[in-house]
Amino acid sequence: MKGVILAGGLGSRLFPLTKITNKHLLPIFDRPMIYYPIEALVKAGITDIMVVTGGKKSGDFLSLLGNGSDFGLKHLNYTYQKGEGGIAEALGLCEHWAAGEPVCVILGDNIIEKNIAKGVADFKAQGGGAKIMLKEVHDPERFGVAELRGEKVVSIEEKPKHPKSNKAVIGIYMYDSRVFDIIKTLEPSDRGELEITDVNNWYLRDGNMTAEVLDGWWTDAGTFDSLIKAANLVADGGANND
Ligand code: DAU
Repeated sequence: MKGVILAGGLGSRLFPLTKITNKHLLPIFDRPMIYYPIEALVKAGITDIMVVTGGKKSGDFLSLLGNGSDFGLKHLNYTYQKGEGGIAEALGLCEHWAAGEPVCVILGDNIIEKNIAKGVADFKAQGGGAKIMLKEVHDPERFGVAELRGEKVVSIEEKPKHPKSNKAVIGIYMYDSRVFDIIKTLEPSDRGELEITDVNNWYLRDGNMTAEVLDGWWTDAGTFDSLIKAANLVADGGANND
């Protein structure tokens, strides 16, 4: 399985912090934000990794990460997203590189407390389809939100005004190789983006998506409040712990 980290976008919710740099290069406690999703993949045993960047400062990712030696890697892959066409558009840029393998995708501003190796192993054993991870939150309207019937996810809504549960769909997704053909069928949403929630709903309708509740804390870091929350959580106990 290959790993994809999505670190494009404009980071406009963090303006002016993102006026002259990419959001994922901002610090979270003692490391740049992008370090956390890379480490999450490496600790889960995924070492063939693509970083999708964008914006004017994309070259800084190369200066910072090089070939990934800080993570014990010999090589890192990079690609460039023009503009901010959405998470699914950014993932679509990895089709050629993925070359028919399944992918584990992490949003570059998502940080987790614990190792996701078990989720990755469960997905491999599933033999295709997709897997998403859920976490209970107090502000579900900020996220993709799962509608549940019992334990089963029946639909996902992107930033609903009236969320049907408090279970957010976090930014770690696993897909089989069909994901790239699915992305090609998507239409931009009202916010002008190709939505990862539309990809997830496609797999739900197809009937081969599993969802598990993430163990340990999770946060994004794309707003002022979540940026400081992430720093405090990492300072208190570290991230990507075994
Ligand atoms: O954090 C989890 C949430 O992330 C999910 O619950 C939502 O379903 C999902 O849509 C996403 O919501 P956000 O609106 O918070 O995503 P945001 O626009 O902040 O983008 C998250 C990351 O995705 C960002 O750090 C970089 C990457 N990205 C985003 C866009 C829009 C790209 O690489 N390219 C893009 O065009």
